Amino acid sequence: MAAQIIDGRAITRQVHDEIREEAADLAARYGIRPGLATVLVGENPASVSYVTAKNRTCKELGMESFHHPLPAETSQEKLLTLIDQLNRDERVHGILVQLPLPQHIDESQVLLSIDPDKDVDGFHPVNVGRLMIGEPRFPPCTPAGIQELLLRSNTTIRGAEVVVVGRSNIVGKPIAIMLVQKADGADATVTICHTRTRHLEDHTRRAEILIVAAGRPAAISGSMIRPGATVIDVGVNRVGTTDSGKAKLVGDVDFASACEVAGKITPVPGGVGPMTIAMLMRNTLRAAKLKVGDRR
Ligand code: GUN
Repeated sequence: MAAQIIDGRAITRQVHDEIREEAADLAARYGIRPGLATVLVGENPASVSYVTAKNRTCKELGMESFHHPLPAETSQEKLLTLIDQLNRDERVHGILVQLPLPQHIDESQVLLSIDPDKDVDGFHPVNVGRLMIGEPRFPPCTPAGIQELLLRSNTTIRGAEVVVVGRSNIVGKPIAIMLVQKADGADATVTICHTRTRHLEDHTRRAEILIVAAGRPAAISGSMIRPGATVIDVGVNRVGTTDSGKAKLVGDVDFASACEVAGKITPVPGGVGPMTIAMLMRNTLRAAKLKVGDRR
């Protein structure tokens, strides 16, 4: 039997409706509009398209967006000066510096320079630490989107065997930390697998929830999946071209064979991707609320 598709776009629409309503409520009660500043250094096509979507979504949800495109050769000093200005700008509640940055810029220095109260990506070490001890302020967007997809698709997380494939700071490590917490929407038993894991399939075949952020097409096929498992595919790989000449987007999971075995699965595109932006909007709303002392 084919797996049930977890429709990330439909769930994103629900979340957007909730955020739009809360943003309007905040405007009515405090007279402020949540504002997000995006900084893009260079013109990496994937980054341009992500940042464009983030700015567009802000507007759709009644938030302000301030976009700062900078040339690829921008110096680190100039970037840090801009971040300093954004840290002090009252209209800006959230700051997002799109990664990756060009080689000549020290990414850690840049992330450290963002005011942790405006760090809507959740990448500042202070926010990473808060997440680790179970007191998240801004949960990182892709992991937060994964957790929300699991919750809204009625997947049992408490006590579940979760296997995460991938150990990046943006996805693998934080989602593992979030799902292992003693908390609602968590309480799972979590294994993290990576490129040096021996017998990957022995781990993945045990997973009731399999989260794949390996960064490689077809890293997981149907034979590596436990029958009935929920499979979350975080991959975004551009391969070959479609009839219209555009690159085709595929995940890290071989979708056709996985569908034969999994109970539920997220598609690419239309799964985790749209939820990532929704969670950025939620964090920006949260940042604006913090500013006015509203912790709801
Ligand atoms: N590049 C890939 N994913 C992300 C993300 O979540 N935030 C930022 N700032 N850059 C990214």
